Amino acid sequence: MTEDKKFYRTVKFSQTTITELMIPSYANFGGKIHGGILLSLMDKAAYACASKHSSGYCVTVSVDTVDFLQPIEVGELVALIASVHYVGNSSMVIGIKVIAENVHTSTVRHTNTSYFTMVSKDQTDQIKKVPGLILESKEEVKNFLDAMKRKEIKEFYKKELKKLGDEPHSEEHDMDLLKHERCQIVH
Ligand SMILES: CC(C)(COP(=O)(O)OP(=O)(O)OC[C@H]1O[C@@H](n2cnc3c(N)ncnc32)[C@H](O)[C@@H]1OP(=O)(O)O)[C@@H](O)C(=O)NCCC(=O)NCCS
Repeated sequence: MTEDKKFYRTVKFSQTTITELMIPSYANFGGKIHGGILLSLMDKAAYACASKHSSGYCVTVSVDTVDFLQPIEVGELVALIASVHYVGNSSMVIGIKVIAENVHTSTVRHTNTSYFTMVSKDQTDQIKKVPGLILESKEEVKNFLDAMKRKEIKEFYKKELKKLGDEPHSEEHDMDLLKHERCQIVH
């Protein structure tokens, strides 16, 4: 892994905004914008931001908290604002804020914020150390600390999920858990 301990960059250096008009071909059968279209745009914004920060090629490793709680309409202008929230050694957490604007009424909605973990790679596909981050505001410090906390929670969650697969099952206990659920056991 390449080492340069003195190399740091500001959040502003790589902050990226992608704006895209929501055209009819992006819509689902209900006339709202497909979640997959938004995910693809978010990934693009995350890549642009991460590759600027690291001056190179990056891959998406993980995507957190993608909740589509508000639909986006055809004709709206969507802005995806990407900024580096956290850097590890080769990884960067990019926060993507999604803003939808109705151009007729000038109404602006913040529809969601998601976090993409991107890893920097060199030309031989090996992971590469990324520049550190210069935090210039209280918000940037908060974003960095929140990302550290989310990383910790993810580690805990990963361990709990692993235990789930390994735990022995008792039929009596399972039946008790399923008693009030909306399922029918037919075997
Ligand atoms: C990303 C990748 C290089 C990680 O490989 P690995 O063998 O797990 O490498 P490491 O364990 O050294 O992890 C590298 C970094 O990724 C981070 N990472 C790995 N898995 C992660 C996960 N699930 N969530 C968040 N970060 C993760 C590690 O914490 C580490 O960060 P750091 O260097 O800042 O400490 C490898 O999994 C890969 O190439 N994946 C495919 C990526 C891709 O093709 N994406 C497009 C999908 S369509």
